[in-house]
Amino acid sequence: MTWPEVEAHLARAGGVILPVGSTEQHGPMGLIGTDALCATVIAERAAELCGAVVAPTLALTPAPFNTAFPGTISISEPLFQALLGEVLDALLGQGFAPVYVLNGHGANLEPIGRALAGRSGVTVRSWWDFEPVNVLRRAWYGDWEGMHATPSEVAITMAAHRQPQIPDIARTPPRKLSPDYIAAHAGDRHGPPDQHRRDFPDGRVGSHSALATPAQGARLIGAAAHAVAADYATMARSASG
Ligand code: NI
Repeated sequence: MTWPEVEAHLARAGGVILPVGSTEQHGPMGLIGTDALCATVIAERAAELCGAVVAPTLALTPAPFNTAFPGTISISEPLFQALLGEVLDALLGQGFAPVYVLNGHGANLEPIGRALAGRSGVTVRSWWDFEPVNVLRRAWYGDWEGMHATPSEVAITMAAHRQPQIPDIARTPPRKLSPDYIAAHAGDRHGPPDQHRRDFPDGRVGSHSALATPAQGARLIGAAAHAVAADYATMARSASG
């Protein structure tokens, strides 16, 4: 967009969706940018439905547990929190309402929560927060959704970007996670990088990525985009009072 287009959007009391992802390994067939790519494509589709604009994706975020895998770039939580805070202040200061943060990476949630404390007019959702999305994830993948390099996120990047070669290692199911493991590691609370790579050598954490198909990805994008657009519209109504 040009700045006059943004100015006209603000004159209509318009809001913005800010996608937030990560730059980290996503298993043997998932793209490194998966979390950023998922949040971005869903934000763009939702924006078409609800009249928002989309801010540049914040793709550099904390993923320290994945740094033993090549391609992962992790920044510290304090740096991410400070960066997000300044971006939010810029958007709020220019009058965007609402400012809707769309997240694609579990480890972002705590620092996002801290950045949002004390700033009004901002809301945060992850694209998997919505029941129509989870109905599809449960039906297609069940327990094989797992925790990382999930078939749902891989499906979304297949639909939005490209279908990767599926290496033999990805055709084999990963080690199944226990309910205790899942509970103890929610929000991506994983161990030190070397240990994490030893524990999950191909990068999948309980997720059978190869179940993903581009057609499923297209449906997940549609379900998430409609849910985000409806949620955004609710925020926009309350923002305009
Ligand atoms: Ni991910």
